[in-house]
Amino acid sequence: MNNIKWKNEFDVAKKAAVEAGHVLNDLSGRLTQIMKKGVIDLVTNADLAAEKIILEIISQNFPNDNILSEEKGELKQNSNRTWIIDPLDGTTNFAHQFPFFAVSIALEVENEIIIGIVYNPCRNEFFQAVKGQGAYHNQKPVHVSQTTVLNESLLATGFPYDIHENPDQVFDLFKRIMIRAQGIRRPGSAALDLCYVAAGILDGFWEAKLKPWDTAAGMLIVEEAGGKISTFQGTAYIPYEDTIIATNSRIHA
Ligand code: IPD
Ligand code: CA
Ligand code: CA
Repeated sequence: MNNIKWKNEFDVAKKAAVEAGHVLNDLSGRLTQIMKKGVIDLVTNADLAAEKIILEIISQNFPNDNILSEEKGELKQNSNRTWIIDPLDGTTNFAHQFPFFAVSIALEVENEIIIGIVYNPCRNEFFQAVKGQGAYHNQKPVHVSQTTVLNESLLATGFPYDIHENPDQVFDLFKRIMIRAQGIRRPGSAALDLCYVAAGILDGFWEAKLKPWDTAAGMLIVEEAGGKISTFQGTAYIPYEDTIIATNSRIHA
């Protein structure tokens, strides 16, 4: 990154993501603890170990910032800056050694996402964006696809952890889109799904009931790659909304 603005924050976030990625790679295939937060919602020792290293690095460098991290929760201080962290997005994939999971770190300043980093350590895919400075995959600029119609679009989605209790709405929407798209995938890491929209691999993505740590980084990466983000209703998206659509912008409507 050449631009000096946010360089310090970016470098620290990058270091945290890469070190957490090493932790995940080391633990891959030899999980000792798989706990359940819900019927199908897992947390493993890898989520906790990756989170520990990220929180150590961020709080050593920026002790006054707020933190919102999936497993540890919220650290609220008197600051307008919040680090939004998912130490392992795609825990179910990780637990089954399905190689699609990532570390996601974002910095929000005055309600705006300024830095987004998503790192998939098993494929060494590093996605990054700084507000106004473009989106990159392994240092190369990325752009959303040019596809203009749904029947030529490859889309992705995900299913919420309460799907067993409330399947109908999710499947109704899935069916409506399935019969119009070229194909749909359910890769299992919302943060990476968003990055694949940014990179033009996917043309769009939608999901309900995601949390800020799933989308904060990926959202900026999509926007900086020329894509569009909204809620299901088409209103402006912030990572605290309940629904998200991310597209190349051409198929958004
Ligand atoms: C999950 C993944 C998944 C999505 C779930 C998320 P986690 O995050 O992003 O793709 O469908 O809704 O909760 O629990 O693996 O961090
Ligand atoms: Ca997640
Ligand atoms: Ca997680």
